[in-house]
Amino acid sequence: MIVVCPNCQTQYDLNDQVVEEPNFIARCSRCQHIFTAYRPVRVEEISFIDLAAAKKRNDHGNIVAISNQKGGVAKTSTCLNLGLSLAQQNKRVLLIDFDVQANLTISLGYKETTSFYEALNGGPNSLEKLIIQTKYNHLFLLPSNKNMVLLNKKYFGARNFEFLLKDRLLPIKDRFDFILIDTPPSIEFFTLNALTASHLIVIPSQCDYLSTHGIDQILKLIQLIKAKTNPSIKPRVLITMFDKQSTASKMICNKLKRLYAGLTFDTMIELDARVREAQILSLPVLEYNKESVAGMQYAEVARDIIAQLSGNQ
Ligand SMILES: Nc1ncnc2c1ncn2[C@@H]1O[C@H](COP(=O)(O)OP(=O)(O)OP(=O)(O)O)[C@@H](O)[C@H]1O
Ligand SMILES: [Mg+2]
Repeated sequence: MIVVCPNCQTQYDLNDQVVEEPNFIARCSRCQHIFTAYRPVRVEEISFIDLAAAKKRNDHGNIVAISNQKGGVAKTSTCLNLGLSLAQQNKRVLLIDFDVQANLTISLGYKETTSFYEALNGGPNSLEKLIIQTKYNHLFLLPSNKNMVLLNKKYFGARNFEFLLKDRLLPIKDRFDFILIDTPPSIEFFTLNALTASHLIVIPSQCDYLSTHGIDQILKLIQLIKAKTNPSIKPRVLITMFDKQSTASKMICNKLKRLYAGLTFDTMIELDARVREAQILSLPVLEYNKESVAGMQYAEVARDIIAQLSGNQ
């Protein structure tokens, strides 16, 4: 297992067979910084998988990017709550935090973790060593950290850089039913890699005046990706933070449904104060409150996605 000192970035490759606790306190022998390290799940520990049965069902290894270059539209909230909803419906789910802000990682209560940066700098199978088993059944996380910013500098524009995530996922993707990727509000290294690796793009969109502009931009990008790196990618628009008390919200929602007919999820995610409250406690909203309207709507979207992607491979 790879542990990185968050202070001086020194990497340690520890024998993970001797660490049994899910997390432990470590001291960097170089700079003496003390930090919490997380023991990654060993892939052979994902024992609830019946790979042969999953292969027959043909519904494993579905990769879903949550993407919109517009900021604050609920990408991270969607990734977290959709991920937990899928896990609660007995799907094995890997969440990938592909944003330097590390909001998904923080929302699950982790900090100072390793990230895809360390996976790229390690050997070809190093990604599996960095996956953390969260406290929720069937829910795993590949976290993010501030080193991720270096990937954009190092690889953006390099030959075939869009395939780096897809290549690294290849040896492990069939061990999960769903892999959900949270992307940043920009189109660079991370978003292009996520779109290249995915079968489905969920585009969260708020009911505000400029939302159609954001959707149009990402749909144009998807057309380019289709032509260049991923011909089978499919987009779907998810209306988020819908305020049923607001006339403007209803008008824009109707416009979105008309403009993107056939692409929009029937279920919308309503504005729900419990989403923010849950975030303060580092909890998915359904864990915070089972009666949460937004939480139940995410569960409905999860059922829709399972139905859409079953037999996709
Ligand atoms: N259904 C909801 N009801 C109320 N608040 C919500 C809802 N969904 C998300 N939020 C809040 O909106 C804010 C933005 O959400 P989030 O961080 O998920 O957006 P994002 O698109 O990932 O942002 P960024 O572009 O910065 O990555 C957060 O404070 C979150 O708690
Ligand atoms: Mg986010």
